[in-house]
Amino acid sequence: MKMNLSQFATQCHRLIKSEPGPAGRAKLASLLQEVLLDSEFVNTYVDPSVGERTILHEDPELGFCILAHHYDDAKTSMPHDHAHSWAIYGQARGETEMRDYELISAASADQPGKVRHTRTYTLSPGMAHVYNEGDLHSPKRVLSTSLIRIEGTNMAKVKRFKYEPVS
Ligand SMILES: [Fe+2]
Repeated sequence: MKMNLSQFATQCHRLIKSEPGPAGRAKLASLLQEVLLDSEFVNTYVDPSVGERTILHEDPELGFCILAHHYDDAKTSMPHDHAHSWAIYGQARGETEMRDYELISAASADQPGKVRHTRTYTLSPGMAHVYNEGDLHSPKRVLSTSLIRIEGTNMAKVKRFKYEPVS
């Protein structure tokens, strides 16, 4: 293993701290690609027993999280953003068909927002994609998949609005 989890987390911390905006996240995505291409890293930290969401590391100072995800079967999510936060999706095994959307009308606590599909692309093993604040997307997984994701903050603790696609 070229870099273990602790070394990876330390490098993520340095990058986010020195460049907290989108430019730093692009560098973070490149770093994530390095570990995605290291089969020893993937096999060690993304064993299928991690299930659909396991936090591998939560940074005590900056709050970002490194997560492992494994889906045995097909799984499709609704369009969403990550509220005030951001996320980087890293494909470890299998493929994710990702859809991006533009915002048509804003969401609120009472009413879902409306979004329009803009493009579809595939995330293959070794690829990492940044979703900055407000970037709307929906992942579709047809077969078994594994991912390593980095969230700007632990999204399990964040209330999110819903969005509906319109044609
Ligand atoms: Fe997402």
